Amino acid sequence: MIKNTLFLDALKGKNVKRPPVWMMRQAGRFLPEFRALRDKYDFFTRCKTPELAAEITMMPVKRFPIDSAILFSDILVVPQAMGLNFEMKESVGPYLQNPIASKQDVERLQNPPIEESLGYVLEAISITKELLHNEIPLIGFSGSPWTILCYAVEGKGSKTFDKAKSFCFKNPEWAHLLLQKITDYTIQYLLKKVESGVDAIQIFDSWGGLLSPKDYEEFSWRYIDQIVEVLATKVPVIVFGKGCWYALPTMSQSKASALGVDWTITPQKAREFSGEAITLQGNFDPAKLLSTPKNIYSEAQQMIRDFGVQRYIANLGHGILPNVPLENAEAFIRAIVEFRE
Ligand code: CP3
Repeated sequence: MIKNTLFLDALKGKNVKRPPVWMMRQAGRFLPEFRALRDKYDFFTRCKTPELAAEITMMPVKRFPIDSAILFSDILVVPQAMGLNFEMKESVGPYLQNPIASKQDVERLQNPPIEESLGYVLEAISITKELLHNEIPLIGFSGSPWTILCYAVEGKGSKTFDKAKSFCFKNPEWAHLLLQKITDYTIQYLLKKVESGVDAIQIFDSWGGLLSPKDYEEFSWRYIDQIVEVLATKVPVIVFGKGCWYALPTMSQSKASALGVDWTITPQKAREFSGEAITLQGNFDPAKLLSTPKNIYSEAQQMIRDFGVQRYIANLGHGILPNVPLENAEAFIRAIVEFRE
């Protein structure tokens, strides 16, 4: 049994004395010990070496009194396993030399057994669970099928992902074939992650907000919902859709335990759109962590008052930025941990 139950209690809607807290991308570049490892091993080597992935996962846990760990990995290991050779290029980010451009490209995608292609993730989970000694839970994650399609078709990051969008709008049939393949493989992958010991799942739909509400339903939500339907029978599922506030009413009707929201919606509106029966997670502007510790502390406590203590998980509205001073991240976490009604 996990000793600190705050995070799982908030997901289940049980009463808590204060909200749990963790930060998206907490195992990342703002930590000096992470940057030190970065000089020694390239990005995907860090993901694919179970001992390193476990060590990185533990870095923020050792430093801050957070209520959950999240496994260090990347959403792009899934399309890699399906045959797309993503690299992480310095000052470019994720890069794929031959992005998906035709129906044949989609048909060529593979679905090898998870133990073979992604066994290193499962091993990293086992090691991390041992290191955690059941003190706090461990979150496993995947990208949403839409967000994976964005990188697989665009071949790299983009502000608009217009190549990915035109692929979908011109050839909806190929897009749906691709999205279904990613969905089926992601479900197998997440089920294995649960078997290996993760206590909850988060689905990152980082680029859902690029779609109109109608296209979101067709190209993103329909597939996320398939994943939620299966995984929610095993562990609590959090869906984080960046820029997807318009979809909160639909998402709240699903089997997800929690919905992640970014800072472009007020806590009050987020509650109004998602009803009383689901937990919300978010939504501190990551750039606010570049202000002063004093400011951060008071704004983070105000955020709790605005969301309410119950059915709420304190977090950022997206990943922590690499240039955030440690004492500022610490002030954010302390504001939550010390909060009393
Ligand atoms: O939250 C955590 O700490 C767990 C680890 C995690 C990483 N990536 C590690 C990482 C998680 C949950 C992700 C998810 C991820 N990866 C997403 C969805 C979440 C989001 O932030 O929108 C996306 C879109 C990716 C793809 C990806 N990987 C991008 C766009 C980048 C940034 C490239 C850059 O250089 O700016 C990465 C690299 C990455 N993934 C880093 C980390 C710590 C930084 C790169 C490095 O340290 O070399």
